[in-house]
Amino acid sequence: MNRIEAALEARKETGVATSPSTEVAEPASKTFADAVPEESQSAGATPVVRIEHLCKSFDGRVVLDAIDLTVPRGKILSIIGQSGGGKTTLLRCINLLERPDHGSIQVNGEAVFADGRVVCPDLAALRRSVGMVFQRFNLFPHLTAVENVMLAQVRAGTPSRTALERSVSLLRRVRLAHRGLAYPDQMSGGEQQRVAIARALALRPSILLFDEPTSSLDPESTVEVLQVMRALAQDGMTMILVTHELPFARGVADWVVFVDGGRIVEQGPPEEIFDRPGQERTRAFLSNEAAAQPDA
Ligand SMILES: Nc1ncnc2c1ncn2[C@@H]1O[C@H](COP(=O)(O)OP(=O)(O)OP(=O)(O)O)[C@@H](O)[C@H]1O
Ligand SMILES: [Mg+2]
Repeated sequence: MNRIEAALEARKETGVATSPSTEVAEPASKTFADAVPEESQSAGATPVVRIEHLCKSFDGRVVLDAIDLTVPRGKILSIIGQSGGGKTTLLRCINLLERPDHGSIQVNGEAVFADGRVVCPDLAALRRSVGMVFQRFNLFPHLTAVENVMLAQVRAGTPSRTALERSVSLLRRVRLAHRGLAYPDQMSGGEQQRVAIARALALRPSILLFDEPTSSLDPESTVEVLQVMRALAQDGMTMILVTHELPFARGVADWVVFVDGGRIVEQGPPEEIFDRPGQERTRAFLSNEAAAQPDA
């Protein structure tokens, strides 16, 4: 058993609840929203993200092909799939870092892209609402950890004193209270990634998008970052998680989407996708990934 699986087992043993949606044996063709009908019907149940028929090509090559995806509030969607399948492009479309060709995107019930056009009235507000954590942390090297977390808040008009207090509290949340005055090059990769998570949280996003947040980290740092992400999940943060850490995705996600060649091949609760995949392509992907996982 590798360290990540061990951490996952520890989580199970501490009795962290499996989400309700994972207990419902829905057919893989159902959508995430279908699998959580109670939330869908309750007041204030607008999905945080709703994507319909999203298409994107680069230089005439289709990269996203009619993607439909809904992420209910407080839920965690994990996107898995082969390299080049379109996962990063999909995430980048959600906050319009990438401009789709067709389809529609709503964030918190408001259209940001529709009929082939960007209709978002305030891109800066969209990007505050949709936080993103990348594989590479992209911290400002000349700023300390706490200053990196403060920066966007101050730019958004938060008084420095308030921004400082909030940043210190966020660094505590990612278990880095003791590293506030360190510069990025004085921190490990895992510490830098946790600062990046604190920075993404600083603007109180309604959803966090993670794009392979641990893929450039050593195993120990990976465990630290996954622990922070798990705590966020337990706090009810809505997230989309692109990862090759399949045991982690299985343990933390409410819903798993397997993307290949720009299409959703299969989706469902984690135990269904990981234990009883319905599609040959999903099975092939999972067995390749299992073969690539480091052993203990
Ligand atoms: N700006 C771009 N210009 C041209 N092609 C691009 C661009 N961005 C991505 N692509 C292509 O789109 C396809 C999907 O890329 P994307 O980065 O979304 O895949 P991915 O699923 O995130 O892969 P990985 O697991 O390797 O990160 C790839 O073939 C990639 O080369
Ligand atoms: Mg990618």
